[in-house]
Amino acid sequence: MKGIVLAGGTGSRLFPLTKITNKHLLPVYDQPMIYYPIRTLVEAGIRDILIVTGGKNAGDFLRLLGNGKHFGLKHINYAYQEGEGGIADALSLAEHFADGHKICVVLGDNLIEASIRDAVEAFLAQPCGARLLLKEVPDAERFGVAEIVGDRIVNIEEKPKAPKSNFAVTGLYMYDATVFDKIRTLVPSSRGELEITDVNNAYIHEGAMTFSFLEGWWTDAGTFESLLRAGNLVARTRQAPVEEAMAAETMGTVR
Ligand code: G1P
Repeated sequence: MKGIVLAGGTGSRLFPLTKITNKHLLPVYDQPMIYYPIRTLVEAGIRDILIVTGGKNAGDFLRLLGNGKHFGLKHINYAYQEGEGGIADALSLAEHFADGHKICVVLGDNLIEASIRDAVEAFLAQPCGARLLLKEVPDAERFGVAEIVGDRIVNIEEKPKAPKSNFAVTGLYMYDATVFDKIRTLVPSSRGELEITDVNNAYIHEGAMTFSFLEGWWTDAGTFESLLRAGNLVARTRQAPVEEAMAAETMGTVR
């Protein structure tokens, strides 16, 4: 399976932080944001990776990531998105790279704590279609929201005012090669973008969508609040083993 990190867009919700750089190059605790989704893919065993970016700072990705040595990779592929066509438009640039293979797509501002290896393996075992990763959240109206009946997703609504569930569609998507035909049928939404939710609904209407629930914490980092939360979650995760060790040591001293 091939991996694609989508790292374009204007990052308008983070202006002025994004006035002179790309959102995905901003720091999240001690690393650039894009390190986290790349590591998620590599940890799941995906080593053939494409970064789709755009805007004025595309060259900085090459300078930062190079050939992927930091992640134990020998090579990274890059594609350039002209304009601001949305997530599905950025993904359409990966057709040549995917070359008929199944793909795992991750939004460059999505950070997760746990491994996605089990979901990737489940998707590889699935003959065709797509697979989503869902997470229960308190603020579902900020995301694509899955309506679930029995053990199936029957519809996804993008940022609904009255969400039909608390299950957000995270920015981790697994698709078969038909995804590119589906993108070709899309029309821009009211925000002028080709929506990934419309791609996912196309799979749902074909009866070809499966899903897993994401373990551990998950956050996006595209707003001031979520960027701060992402930094705090990473910091807490990094410090947790140290705190546990200190607590164990203290208990040992008391004893
Ligand atoms: C995008 C998707 C949304 C998804 C979210 C996850 O929203 O459109 O369905 O739940 O990513 O981070 P955006 O952050 O681009 O508004």
